[in-house]
Amino acid sequence: MNSKFKRILVTAALPYANGVIHLGHLAGAYLPADIYARYQRLKKRDIVFICGSDEHGVAITVTAEKEKITPKAVVDRYHALNKTAFENFGMSFDNYSRTSLPLHYEVTQEFFRELHRRKILREKEEKQLYCEKDKMFLADRYVEGTCPNCKYTQARGDQCENCGTWLNQVELIDPKCKICGAMPIVKATSHWYFPLGEFQTRLQSYIAERSKRDGWKENVLRYCESWFKEGLQDRAVTRDLSWGVPVPVAGYEKKVIYVWFDAVLGYISSTKEWAARQGNPAAWKNYWQQEDTKYVAFIGKDNVVFHCIVFPAMLMGWNDGGKEQYVLPENVPANEFLNFEGQKFSKSRGWGIDLQDFLRFFPADPLRYTLAFNLPESRDSDFYLKDFQARANNELADILGNFVNRTVAFTEKNFGGKVPKLGALEKIDKEMIAFLKETPAKIGDFYERYKFRDGVVESMNLARAANKYFNDSEPWKTSKSNPDQCATTLHICLQIVRSLAVVFQPVTPAISERMWKTLNITTALQEESWDSAGTLKLTESHILNKPEILVTKIEDKQIEDVIQALSDAPAPQKLQQTTEIKPMIALDDFKKIDLRLARVIAAEKVPKSEKLLRLQVEIGSEKRQIVAGIAQHYQPEQLVGKLIVVVANLQSAKLMGQESQGMLLAANDDNGKLSVVTILDDLPTGSIVR
Ligand code: MF3
Ligand code: ZN
Repeated sequence: MNSKFKRILVTAALPYANGVIHLGHLAGAYLPADIYARYQRLKKRDIVFICGSDEHGVAITVTAEKEKITPKAVVDRYHALNKTAFENFGMSFDNYSRTSLPLHYEVTQEFFRELHRRKILREKEEKQLYCEKDKMFLADRYVEGTCPNCKYTQARGDQCENCGTWLNQVELIDPKCKICGAMPIVKATSHWYFPLGEFQTRLQSYIAERSKRDGWKENVLRYCESWFKEGLQDRAVTRDLSWGVPVPVAGYEKKVIYVWFDAVLGYISSTKEWAARQGNPAAWKNYWQQEDTKYVAFIGKDNVVFHCIVFPAMLMGWNDGGKEQYVLPENVPANEFLNFEGQKFSKSRGWGIDLQDFLRFFPADPLRYTLAFNLPESRDSDFYLKDFQARANNELADILGNFVNRTVAFTEKNFGGKVPKLGALEKIDKEMIAFLKETPAKIGDFYERYKFRDGVVESMNLARAANKYFNDSEPWKTSKSNPDQCATTLHICLQIVRSLAVVFQPVTPAISERMWKTLNITTALQEESWDSAGTLKLTESHILNKPEILVTKIEDKQIEDVIQALSDAPAPQKLQQTTEIKPMIALDDFKKIDLRLARVIAAEKVPKSEKLLRLQVEIGSEKRQIVAGIAQHYQPEQLVGKLIVVVANLQSAKLMGQESQGMLLAANDDNGKLSVVTILDDLPTGSIVR
């Protein structure tokens, strides 16, 4: 860590108290954050690790309406469930707060009032969608319609999930009230706006500077760039809703502060709550208002804009007032998404596995280890139960567990369970000691750079090297032929057991704890220091405890049980037909669509876009450019030469700044599989398709 810093503030995205934590969330933000925090504690750094439940927003009120209970009942339930599930998973938060607490209301309202007082926030009257039946303005997810940009039919009022564009809800095509399905009317209402656009230049230089200093991840920078390219706009920070933090401005008694404005401030209120619980209420300031604090915000990719753009701008706005100065995130190491058994996690389709369910079948550590191996650090990644079983058995049990076990058992049998004497060192011993010595720093270096997977690989490599060392030293032979040499081997192996307990602590804390117990070391594992993890600290003649089983293997039957439990849940494939066939149309309506045969003559990826391919197609004598969201399904070269069907008379549109003159036909299922419609026989391009 840069020596400029004296303290570390770590936050992990506050999960909505509207559903349970699943493995995708863990891989996205929580496990990396926890590994980082645990590692930094072992580095003896002054660190606080903050989280809590995000308890506002329309997703929650919609759930409450569906279940005919109050929003409070919804958040109480999920807050308790998630807090416990996190604890069982071994999350080491210093504080897990909730945004429905009075303290959080105070923090949020104070922030709002200050920005309002200094006229950073501006009031505007704007047209919004209003449902006359439900007698309410349809904020955010209360309205759904077709995205004007990509034509996705289930775009929400605030954002299109498909193309990521922030929407002004009145731009939605065919909007529908989510409560009653009626078409809303347009009606004017007043709101307070945050002038994000005015911060754009400063935000750009902030990100450029921090990313240079702390190495921001490519994926995060890419998202930010695309927001900047589009140009930041004013954002409404109030809503016509009743569930949320009340707007502290006269005339706004019936409105609340926008959930994202209050949620990010939840990090601050949670830190305040922590400080008060420590008996030192002012302590939160050390972490938020000292420029020698390093602030790292762990999130999943869908939260990038709020943490890299909105939250820093809010803090800049406050800091401009000249009062206390808040630190801005030094880094926002966002991960991509994790798929489960090859398919996207989906709450609505019931696909995936919840943390608390998973922990009914298996302990947390093998899950932590496997997830760490499959973190979607630079692209979406997969979690397979079979892979989970293999890593738990072949690595945690057979490499780490086996090494510890054979070392302790051998010591018990041959040295009465006491650490034997270190004698003269052979080459093999010296090499092992040297490797041991350099490993913690290597792992730490990866963790400092948010490369958690590499750090975990390196940790397991130490256990691998240790097993090899044990084998090559053949202590079962030297115990007779050269007892001093045998003692030296086992002495070194026991030292490695101690080191492994320390370096694995951030990843598999419970296993490390058991190793510690076996070693019978009286000081707590957490008291150890990472910097001396690779040194020989066990003393000769120290008495060990009896070995206990470190890692239990996972049986095929257990995996089958989980798969069974999952297939009892609604299978995603079966839901395919639930999309209703649209209302009938006349033949004349169909004839308005001009479908033509086209040949792909060139294809390439659209720069900085994961989804888009840019195709040059030939339609008779005409050449056109078509941009299609199929990059995750086809390599560009797979398409060149293919005969496809395009809508030739669709108004052209711009996608990520690229002109698209038409649309190609493709089929896709609910699981995100996609296949472009192609023609088998060679017909001339430009042919009419009907
Ligand atoms: N609740 C949001 C989500 O689950 C994350 C909020 S992060 C915070 O996507 F910073 F706003 F708290
Ligand atoms: Zn309605």
